[in-house]
Amino acid sequence: MTDCWLDCDPGHDDSLAILLASHCKKIKLIGISTVGGNQTIEKTTKNALISMNLYGLVRKTPTLLDLGQEINYNEELKFSDCMTHGGLECPLVQGSCRPLLRPGVNCEEIHGDSGLNTHVKIELPEIPEYASKYVENLNSKCSHFTRVIYDGIKNNPKPITFLATGPLTNLAILLINFPDVSKFIEKIVIMGGAMGIGNTGPVAEFNIQVDPEAAHYVFEANIPVYMVPLEVTHSALVTPQIITSISSLSTNLSFILVELLVFFQSTYKNFFFMEHPPLHDPCAVAFIVDPSLFEHRLMRVDVEIHSNLSYGQTVCDFYNMSTKKKNVYVCMKMNVERFWELMIEAIKSANQY
Ligand code: BDR
Ligand code: CA
Repeated sequence: MTDCWLDCDPGHDDSLAILLASHCKKIKLIGISTVGGNQTIEKTTKNALISMNLYGLVRKTPTLLDLGQEINYNEELKFSDCMTHGGLECPLVQGSCRPLLRPGVNCEEIHGDSGLNTHVKIELPEIPEYASKYVENLNSKCSHFTRVIYDGIKNNPKPITFLATGPLTNLAILLINFPDVSKFIEKIVIMGGAMGIGNTGPVAEFNIQVDPEAAHYVFEANIPVYMVPLEVTHSALVTPQIITSISSLSTNLSFILVELLVFFQSTYKNFFFMEHPPLHDPCAVAFIVDPSLFEHRLMRVDVEIHSNLSYGQTVCDFYNMSTKKKNVYVCMKMNVERFWELMIEAIKSANQY
């Protein structure tokens, strides 16, 4: 079992990453944080809560503590307080609204104005008030979001894996504010980067391009980094067969997931002329679930932060020409069939809620 903190910017594929991370047998989610990326921070936080509620991560029968004993959200906030309040299975904390140095960029053209758009209006399960109140309070009253993440990671009984499926802003700020957190992080797994062709620049991938300085900082942090780049995620295509296997589950959840994927498919088609959209973020989760599904190679990866033309490029030194210390395990190939089996198993498990 791998204990995981998930930092994300939902986003269609981030939402499915929450689903896979919370409904596979190999991951224990100890916390979720959001970052501005696919949409503004307010929207990605709202979408994370919608997703948690949809996948059964908000308790229907809350404890007395969940129901809102007044709690003092300050420096003294304890991780156990986050665990019991709001009826959420793990804390949800809103992170940075913007990148370290650059203006924020959103990806409305793919994820729509809400960040989780569908073409037809769907009925989402109602979010209990105690859960939204908890998120609101935690975000408005805690001293700093990195404090909550730090406490969560430090107080976990064993070292954790930090999984990031959005820009790396939160992780960089966490490492800057609490350098000793690195003692408690066994590895970092990210969806991001590309060995070659980019998706928001000729050679830059969105998550890295939004906050290249943060990525540069994280790659230099001396914690093992595993990068799941576009070359891998572009093999996880949502084909009509995949849509059929999800819709054949015939549940409320499968109906909602199909609508989300159909929207994602249409924007990908308009924007990238791709018939079938790649389900990026769950691939990074799959790496944690079963690394044997991947081929990877340790190499030197530098993030371009100076050039106007190619900032955000992850320069992968495959042949170690720079002779610099190798710092990133780059995933190069994934067992796609097994990936979809894991996804479908997780959807089946989440269906019970
Ligand atoms: C990444 O960018 C976002 O739009 C997706 O959620 C994914 O994390 C792919 O480049
Ligand atoms: Ca994402």
